Amino acid sequence: MRVIIEKDYEAMSKKAALLVASQVRLKEDSVLGLATGSTPIRMYNELIEMYEKDEIDFSEVKTFNLDEYCNLPSENPQSYHYYMNENFFNHVNIPEENINLLDGMTDNLKKESIEYDMKIKRAGGIDLQVLGIGPNGHIGFNEPAEKLNVKTHQVDLAQETIEANSRFFESKEDVPKKAITMGIATILKSNRILLLANGKNKAKAIKETVSGNVTTKVPSSLLQTHPEVTIIVDEEAAELI
Ligand code: GLP
Repeated sequence: MRVIIEKDYEAMSKKAALLVASQVRLKEDSVLGLATGSTPIRMYNELIEMYEKDEIDFSEVKTFNLDEYCNLPSENPQSYHYYMNENFFNHVNIPEENINLLDGMTDNLKKESIEYDMKIKRAGGIDLQVLGIGPNGHIGFNEPAEKLNVKTHQVDLAQETIEANSRFFESKEDVPKKAITMGIATILKSNRILLLANGKNKAKAIKETVSGNVTTKVPSSLLQTHPEVTIIVDEEAAELI
């Protein structure tokens, strides 16, 4: 694992955007795995700025998002569909047909999951997967557990995640209890992985990711088994490394 420590959130985001941009410049038809949450917002801003300055072209890029809440329509501002449109897709030239998001509203989650993994495979696999991390070490919505489901699947959100994500909702009760997420194997099949984290509340998870035991109880620790992982953190998230 390559760990890059940047001074603050802004520097972390700039470095992450440069890494994504270099991937797209090297391979114009890159397949990107994308993440949501508060962490990558600034990285998306930076990429939008590069696009506006004609420094990057997304016209051949394909994207696959990591996860989505169940039973939250795409018009709901808390859905990851809405988030991606607002924070990235509406501002760059990725063709709509190249954008893939999980449908948390489907009544056949099993079919949705199987088809999503197949679509990734047909696209040639993910070249670069961007990840955030939950304070409990979840990646995507793969929550700490005795056993992990390796493929794309439906999950029950951990109480800790419901609490962490309740800051985006009016109340804790409004946070969906279920989600659909790429599985750990789907993530680990990506050629390269870029994990971002900032802030003190991620410091413990980052320490466990980088040097803890490899265990399903800290899903991000499984990244230690991947040969091409870059972790970019700010000084606060690096505090315990
Ligand atoms: C959310 C998402 C993850 C994200 C993580 C961290 O629940 N499912 O994909 O990486 O939690 O979110 P944040 O960046 O807001 O701390």
